[in-house]
Amino acid sequence: MSRLVSTELSGSADKLIRGRHATRAFRPDPVPEDTMRTIFSLAGAAPSNSNAQPWQVEVVSGARRARLADSLQAAHAAQTTSVDFPYSADMYAPVHRDRQAAFGAELYGALGIGRDDHAARAAYDAESLRFYGAPHAAFLFVTGDGGARLAADVGAYMQTLLLAMTAYGVDSCPQGLLSFYADTVRAELGVTGGKLLVGVSFGYGHETAPVNRVTTDRAALHATTAFHD
Ligand SMILES: Cc1cc2nc3c(=O)[nH]c(=O)nc-3n(C[C@H](O)[C@H](O)[C@H](O)COP(=O)(O)O)c2cc1C
Repeated sequence: MSRLVSTELSGSADKLIRGRHATRAFRPDPVPEDTMRTIFSLAGAAPSNSNAQPWQVEVVSGARRARLADSLQAAHAAQTTSVDFPYSADMYAPVHRDRQAAFGAELYGALGIGRDDHAARAAYDAESLRFYGAPHAAFLFVTGDGGARLAADVGAYMQTLLLAMTAYGVDSCPQGLLSFYADTVRAELGVTGGKLLVGVSFGYGHETAPVNRVTTDRAALHATTAFHD
């Protein structure tokens, strides 16, 4: 038996989920502390296997954020990467690569960076280690053994966090690139345990920045989802 659908709730869910976009140019104004606490409390309502909640979240702002941005730039310049979750382009199937290429064309097109201008692309990526100018960044660590199942729980936390931010008018960008400098983040924040999955830059986006108008589409439902009777 199907349950009554609340049109109010489904309409809001549609707005909330489709209203979230990655923001890559931020204004410097900070998010008020009470808003920040509300958002991170809401994110903690994310589901996890047996409710284990295997996440540790480190939020940086102010002077610490500025120091961390400098350390990340220095680590990048010295090519001292340290990843807790190995990355390889081979992870992706050809269909994924096609989607990545389409996204790259949109993003770098909005930035006026040419398709084959690898130097300009690399410079933009390096600059993104300054959190795209966002006044805050959250680092999501997977605790326990940091295995795939626990990382999936932290993925659920991440999306809950992004949606909570959207609901409170806070813009965000999840940045896998930040996880390539796990030791730098750990050293700067005095973190001793866990594996760094992703960083999330957040604040208030520049409304007029062309890069914030990049739109991304999604695969058709049938391409990713099958319904079995
Ligand atoms: C786990 C993860 C890692 C990501 N890493 C980066 C990143 O390093 N830099 C970046 O600019 N965007 C990054 N993104 C944002 C994606 O590019 C973006 O979510 C995707 O293109 C879809 O666009 P949308 O978020 O605007 O819907 C990441 C997103 C996720 C979920």
